[in-house]
Amino acid sequence: MAEARRKIIIDTDPGQDDAVAILLALASPEEIDLLGITCVAGNVPLALTARNARVVCELAGRGDVKVFAGCDRPLQRPLVTAEHVHGKTGLDGIDLPDPVMPLQDAHAVDFIIETLRAEPPGSVTLVPIGPLTNIATAFARAPDMVGRVAEIVLMGGAYFEVGNITPAAEFNIYVDPEAAAAVFGAGVPLVVMPLDVTHKALTTRPRVEAFRALPGRLGPAVAAWTDFFERFDKEKYGSAGAPLHDPCTVAYLLRPDLFTGRHINVEIETEGRFTLGMTVADWWRVSGRAPNATFMGDMDAEGFFTLLTQRLARL
Ligand code: BDR
Ligand code: CA
Repeated sequence: MAEARRKIIIDTDPGQDDAVAILLALASPEEIDLLGITCVAGNVPLALTARNARVVCELAGRGDVKVFAGCDRPLQRPLVTAEHVHGKTGLDGIDLPDPVMPLQDAHAVDFIIETLRAEPPGSVTLVPIGPLTNIATAFARAPDMVGRVAEIVLMGGAYFEVGNITPAAEFNIYVDPEAAAAVFGAGVPLVVMPLDVTHKALTTRPRVEAFRALPGRLGPAVAAWTDFFERFDKEKYGSAGAPLHDPCTVAYLLRPDLFTGRHINVEIETEGRFTLGMTVADWWRVSGRAPNATFMGDMDAEGFFTLLTQRLARL
């Protein structure tokens, strides 16, 4: 069992969908060895994301998980947050107690660097589900990181589905486009879950009720979070529910067969007047630029929700 487990670091800005991604990882110990959770400013400011990550761990009865606070603002720009989606706390939808588990003393970027240096090269996967500030800072500070990462599996970007925070850009990339450009240009194996995929992971009524019916605290908590943020998404998209973006990354680690995509060139727009933060994905391979990412385009949503529901039932 030990050899088959994949060592990962989740880099996150919880966020209800981030919370579900963390729960899915914690519910999958046979496959996933969660070395730590690194927090970044994004959906809400850093103090809240660092709080929320610990709230989620304690909800899962995992006060032993190492949680680190990282960068409190993007590399070159003021922070843009998304309380309009996630609520004032970032985890609105259910009242949960303040965490008692400690925040680790080390900075998230130092933890990422030290962990990648301590573990055998090619053995640690990074799972960023917020703005890429921590990851880009680690690469800039310690370029030897790049050759040591097994893979980056991230949620971010959009192409055919266009943007959610601007007409052209997805939130995680838009918040720190310079960090995203550094990560996409680093030469690390990259798997990208853009809105093209995550907008198919919709929390329809039957799927939410299946969460709510689970025994224990987790299913009802996930249903309450979903109830909260789907109000915004249903109004915006006219869809049957809200997209559960971030858990697609962890689901990919567990069941890559649920997703299909293309290995293509993806560039990050850092200058566009209207297109800042756009992921310019060469889906039709017309640019002649070298592929740098596996950009997902489709998913088996039913299979994804079955997996998620089964795993949450185990926690
Ligand atoms: C991404 O932005 C955040 O609001 C979500 O947590 C997700 O990571 C979707 O655009
Ligand atoms: Ca997120």
